[in-house]
Amino acid sequence: MTLNDCKLIELPKISDPRGNLSFIESGQHIPFDIKRVYYLYDVPGGSDRGSHAHKNLHQFIVAMSGSFDVVLDDGKDKKRYHLNRSYQGLYVCPMMWRYLDHFSSGAVCMVLASSHYDAADYIRDYSEFLALTNRKA
Ligand code: TYD
Repeated sequence: MTLNDCKLIELPKISDPRGNLSFIESGQHIPFDIKRVYYLYDVPGGSDRGSHAHKNLHQFIVAMSGSFDVVLDDGKDKKRYHLNRSYQGLYVCPMMWRYLDHFSSGAVCMVLASSHYDAADYIRDYSEFLALTNRKA
């Protein structure tokens, strides 16, 4: 899969003077079934997260509060996304190296995932990632 398979997805937004509402349904707004939800919060200024790829996992990343950047790398091209809207998210397909940085104070990063946690699904070595994508440095 390549960077073109990853994209920003606009979510439904029910605007209301009492507060806005957005929602995400498996298979409707994102192209996988949700098996797990996790979130990053209390991220100290200057911290980076991620720096790995997943062999099979599909993910959808939403800035529920504040903002941060997600950099995607398919072994050939890289793209930086700035996430700062709770009605928008980034779909990340399998075999995509990613890191997250530039977290604002109070940022909350919610990740919807297609599988339960599995340490064996991670590729944490960038050279191994390039080898697996046949894009050796
Ligand atoms: P990791 O995925 O490396 O964090 P990030 O990509 O956000 O920097 O996970 C950090 C630690 O948390 C690691 O020890 C595995 C553990 N973890 C779980 O136990 N369950 C989970 O669902 C996730 C995402 C991580």
